[in-house]
Amino acid sequence: MIPTITKQHISVFAPATVANLSCGFDVLGTCLDNVGDPMRIDIEPCQNFEIEISKITGANLPYEPEKNVVGVAIKALQESYQKKYPNAQPFKATVEIHKKIKAGSGIGSSAASSTGAVYGVNKLLGDIFDKVELISFAMEGERLASGNAHADNVAPALLGGFSLVRSYTPLDVIKLHTPKDLYITVIHPQIEVKTADSRAVLKQKVNLKNAIHQWGNLGGFIAGLYSEDYKLMSRSLQDVIVEPLRSILIPKFQEVKQASLDKGALGCGISGSGPSIYALSKGIETAQSVQKAMENIYSKTQIPFDIHVSKINTEGIKITERS
Ligand code: HSE
Repeated sequence: MIPTITKQHISVFAPATVANLSCGFDVLGTCLDNVGDPMRIDIEPCQNFEIEISKITGANLPYEPEKNVVGVAIKALQESYQKKYPNAQPFKATVEIHKKIKAGSGIGSSAASSTGAVYGVNKLLGDIFDKVELISFAMEGERLASGNAHADNVAPALLGGFSLVRSYTPLDVIKLHTPKDLYITVIHPQIEVKTADSRAVLKQKVNLKNAIHQWGNLGGFIAGLYSEDYKLMSRSLQDVIVEPLRSILIPKFQEVKQASLDKGALGCGISGSGPSIYALSKGIETAQSVQKAMENIYSKTQIPFDIHVSKINTEGIKITERS
């Protein structure tokens, strides 16, 4: 059925995410509970397909839709809508973005914006696109932000919990089981590491021995999630491919990692493309003592930082208001 477009709006909370989780570069990610961006999305019937970014707070980002991940993601959705319903009423989407997740922090700032936008528009259109389609639209935002359309932030932002991108061509995304007791601590040292730059330091070829190590760990981590085997998760949270190349961009990385493991974290590594560092823990007490240890290290530097402790958000993006 062709969707009917009426003037309506929705407000959403688009969550921060931690991608890679050491063993799953570009394929594994998880969702935070209490860190994210409020957004408001309006649609109305219009003569042509239009996009307007009407307000941005909390960050200095472009208002031109073609330069903003929100505009690019909605454009991908509108193009697919036109293909799906060639005779349907065009619509204008207007978006307000209230950035709480700092750009370049490594906790999925661009993914939250892209996902919030396409999720909101789709709700207002009557849920005409499925989750995989929405992820593929939001990935266009990621392409603009980093030069690469990776899905390991947008998938957990949309689905909640842990998600695995089993394949990019065709896109196949799986929501994984989330054990109840998992908490994540994330420290964001306020230095900017652009995803594009931290992708540029990576090698295009992987040594076979390292690849074997890495896919063993990825499988082990996922088996650990399903069997709620925390020791198995812990020994699987290792990255022998990307972390050695990227960690040199992050001050105090090794110290923070060692201190987190000493406090009982299951694992610790770079959050997404950095500079944030994540640690996964069993239970909030451990996550909080990891937080103190991370704070201790960074307080001795001149680098300002934010730090968050969050339960894994199994719900993902959510609607906060609709009318
Ligand atoms: N998988 C991406 C990367 C995530 O590590 O470059 C970016 O947040």
